Order: sequence, then structure tokens, then C-alpha cells
Amino acid sequence: MKDFLFKVPTKLIFGENAALRMKDIFDSLSARKIFIVTGKTIEKTPSFIAMVEKLREDGFACQVFSDTVADPPVEVVDEAAKALKESGADAVLAAGGGSSIDAAKAMSMLITNEGSVRDYLFGGTKTVANKPLPLICVPTTAGSGSEVTAASVITDNQRNMKLSITHECLTPIYAVIDPIMQMGMPPLITASTGMDALTHAIEAYVSLNAEPISDAYAEKAISLIGKNIRTATFNPENREARGNMAIASVLAAAAFANAGLGAVHGIAQSMGGIAHTPHGIANSLLLPHVMEVNAAGNLERFAYIAALLGEKTEGLSVREQGQMAVKAVYNMGKDLRIPSTLREVKVTREMFPSIVEGTMGYRLLAVNPVKIREQDVYKILEKAY
Ligand SMILES: NC(=O)c1ccc[n+]([C@@H]2O[C@H](COP(=O)([O-])OP(=O)(O)OC[C@H]3O[C@@H](n4cnc5c(N)ncnc54)[C@H](O)[C@@H]3O)[C@@H](O)[C@H]2O)c1
Ligand SMILES: [Fe+2]
Repeated sequence: MKDFLFKVPTKLIFGENAALRMKDIFDSLSARKIFIVTGKTIEKTPSFIAMVEKLREDGFACQVFSDTVADPPVEVVDEAAKALKESGADAVLAAGGGSSIDAAKAMSMLITNEGSVRDYLFGGTKTVANKPLPLICVPTTAGSGSEVTAASVITDNQRNMKLSITHECLTPIYAVIDPIMQMGMPPLITASTGMDALTHAIEAYVSLNAEPISDAYAEKAISLIGKNIRTATFNPENREARGNMAIASVLAAAAFANAGLGAVHGIAQSMGGIAHTPHGIANSLLLPHVMEVNAAGNLERFAYIAALLGEKTEGLSVREQGQMAVKAVYNMGKDLRIPSTLREVKVTREMFPSIVEGTMGYRLLAVNPVKIREQDVYKILEKAY
């Protein structure tokens, strides 16, 4: 068996209304002034308002900053970092989906590290040298898992690319997983962010870097998502399904933060920079097509994914079971009414060469179970078109 290192440094607190019980967390950090990073939609939700009111009641000064946007661009993050600096806050609380959390990670880092966030993106001129302000996260989607990872994904509109900063000290100190904060997600957001979590789990499970601990996290995530994503989407008040999706998203993120991702994220990230396709929708529509290409790299694992998703696999060959996993994922996207073609999300054939170029530069293609060549990416895009 190969050697490996597995870590999930973030402390996790799970519970309904846990976001109303954060006094001890901020006390333990000796924080008095909290800068809260969110977006315009979340800012108006009753659960967010209740969370801020409770922190104020608990004696903390709170400044709400709601100017973050989906897939945060460099300029937005740089401006937001200035506001954070001026606030004099001693801790940052991100309440939102992956976009708000990623913006908050980059902003906290820019308080103690000079320059623009662009300088720190993959391939940039600077590396994170100083510890950022402490970051606490309350995810409002069950998808990105950014609340437990060391990565921040930022959009560089000058280069039409989404790029990451990955550094251990960007990892949030606490993740407060409160399903109540996720109850307001509309069906398409629940479904597509849930498919992002499934993509994390599947890519980690079949990654060349997978190991027994990341496998345990990924397997549990796949089975929880298979059992709960439809209920959470179509019966949004079902607390059991919301809680299970919230946990699955954290498990999947812990798996990929250690084992890596693969070609689905490579293509989705490139498409995000060029066509601005929402991350979960891009993953959902690409996942079955990439699985079809990848299955040959590890038939046994793809076969087991079918079983984890609740498919009847008795009597079938390993190859047939692997194909069943592809079909199960495709059907899941269809059941959830997520766009299933690139055409529907306004990706044009003219964009293919740039999407392929961006994909080939993706760092984690190296752990994809089969070697991905340019012609493979073209084939996947054609099939998804
Ligand atoms: N850092 C990481 O490890 C990591 C991992 C995966 C994805 N990402 C990044 O995260 C981003 C995607 O994050 P996401 O999928 O969580 O979505 P998001 O944060 O981009 O939000 C998507 C939409 O959902 C809305 N929304 C979020 N929570 C809601 C709620 N409870 N009720 C109503 N509306 C709600 C937002 O306002 C937004 O319009 C992408 O930029 C992706 O690249 C980062
Ligand atoms: Fe993702």
C-alpha cells in the first residue's frame, strides 16, 4: 500500500441552528469585530438576518459586506479586501455558497499579504507568506465544500480564466454546518450544487491519488447524495434530506481536498472562465461524459459507484456495472431538471478551442484515471453539445 497524508484541519460544528450558537467560536479567537462576507440574495434571507442579530446580541460588532458575486472576479475581491482592511475587523465570517467563501478566503489573505489577488493565482508572481485573518464559514449551499478546503477559486476576466490559490493557511478555522441556512435554496441551486458535490466525490474516488481514508469519505458522500439529492430538490423543507446533503458535501470536499479532482473540474473551470457557466451546472452536464471516458482507467471503481448509487448490479459484468454508473449519473441530472447539453447553457462550438486550451492547463488533470489528451476533451465537448 502506498504512503499518504490525509488532513481536514477545519473544525466542524454540525447542527440545526448552529449558526445561532457561534459565540464560543468567536470568543475562542478573542474576536470582537466580525466582518461578514455574503451576497445580495443571502443577505435578505431570514436565517442570515437571525444569525447577524444573534451575534450582535452576543456582544460582537458586525459589519455586513454583501458585494460579493458568483464566481468572484479579481477586481471585486481586491475592492472587497480594501473594505475589510478599513473595517479593522479581527475575524471574517463567510455566509454563502462557494463564491462568497472563496472571496472571503482571498480577502482575508490580502489583509496580511500585499498586492492584488491576481498575483497569487496559480502561475502568479507571489505566494502566500503571512497568516490571513481567521475565517469562519457558514455554507448556504451543499456543494462546493470550500468551507473545509485550502483553495479559493477566482475569475480572471482579463484572461477569461478561473484560477485557484491553494495554500494551507487559507483553510477556514471553523465550518458551521447548519442545514437551516440551506433550506432556502431554490430547486436548481440545490440540484446543481449537489451535483458539484457528487462530482467531487466521484473524481476523488477514481483519482490516481485516492487512498483508503479519502475513499471512505467519497463512498459515504456518493451514497448519501444518491439517497437524498432528489428529496432535497423537490421537497426543500425536508430537514433530513437537507442535513444529509450538507454532510455529504463536507465529506466529498474532504475527499477531494486530499485525493484531488479530475477532468470534469478541469473542463468546468475552463468553461466557467470563458462562458460563465455556473460551476454546478457545468459539472452536472459533463460528469457522465467524462465518466464514460474515464471508466476504462478503473472499471472496478466505476462498477462500485453504480452500487453506491443504489443500482441493481447483480449478475452484470464489471464493464456493464461501470456503464450503469454512467447512466445513473446521467439520469440523476435529468430527474433533477438540470440542463444536460452545452447548447442550453450557451456554450458555442467556437468556444471549444479556448475551453480545450484552458482544460489542458488544469493542474489536477495529472490525477485523472486516464491520460486526457486534447482530442479527448474535444470528444467530450461534442458529446455534451
Ligand atoms: N474553494 C473550493 O474548494 C471550491 C470547490 C468547488 C467549487 N468552488 C467554487 O465555488 C463556486 C460555486 O459555489 P456554489 O456552487 O456554492 O454556488 P455560489 O456560491 O456561486 O452560488 C450560486 C447561486 O446560489 C445562490 N445561493 C447560495 N445559497 C443560497 C441559498 N441558501 N438560498 C438561495 N440562494 C442561494 C447565490 O446567491 C448564487 O446566486 C464556484 O466559483 C466554484 O469554482 C470552490
Ligand atoms: Fe466543484
